Amino acid sequence: MNVPRHIAIVMDGNGRWAQGRGAERNEGHRSGLDPVRMVIEECLRAKVAALTLFAFSSENWSRPADEVAGIMNLFFDALEAELPALNKNGVRLRFIGERAALAPALRSRMGEAETLTMGNSALRLQVAISYGGRQDILAAAAQVALACERGELRSSELTESGFAAHLALAGLPDPDLFIRTGGEQRISNFLLWNLAYSELYFTATLWPDFSSAEFAAALREFAGRQRRFGLSGAQLQDA
Ligand code: IPE
Ligand code: IPE
Ligand code: MG
Repeated sequence: MNVPRHIAIVMDGNGRWAQGRGAERNEGHRSGLDPVRMVIEECLRAKVAALTLFAFSSENWSRPADEVAGIMNLFFDALEAELPALNKNGVRLRFIGERAALAPALRSRMGEAETLTMGNSALRLQVAISYGGRQDILAAAAQVALACERGELRSSELTESGFAAHLALAGLPDPDLFIRTGGEQRISNFLLWNLAYSELYFTATLWPDFSSAEFAAALREFAGRQRRFGLSGAQLQDA
């Protein structure tokens, strides 16, 4: 079976999951930790090289303050609780997104986790917190502009790969498979540049209910797709 090298997931539906049970939205976010563990384990098992999880978008800051505070506390506690197992299992953890917006205590834990797991190579795990695809592209454009101003780069020499080297996912292959739970069929400002040729998989299942069986179904669906990258089907058959 053709296994994706890199999977990107929009983990959506936590709030509706909780509300459906008459619980606080933050209970849904907490329950979303189980499928995170499951997906990491399955990626290790299937030898997926990279996994990028959308945990909190740039736009999610506009949610009610108590929900935002609950999510930030959850990040802190989850990092504390999960880090030893992640490290033991060979996961290299990195965070992408606007770090300056986060509380210093969380930020320093994130930095420590990245340093601790830097030498691991079983799975590259990126967690997107305070991340926006447009912000990512804009920050890369600013770096390129600066290099031009300093005379280190001529605008005519800028290439796709040269530009992508300034993006948050620099050094990683583009996601082969994009999964979004929760029923919405949109990207919601996730990895706008990197998703250019990803296979898209949408499911109505709310994130806390996302199971290993459903993850396996997404992998099977991916394996059955023909990726053409602009070529004709006949060209691919000849190759
Ligand atoms: C996704 O679940 C998690 C975050 C955006 C932090 P939601 O909280 O968006 O859940 P729904 O979409 O409201 O059900
Ligand atoms: C996308 O979900 C962000 C995350 C899952 C972290 P949202 O719930 O914020 O997306 P919209 O608002 O439905 O587009
Ligand atoms: Mg949502």
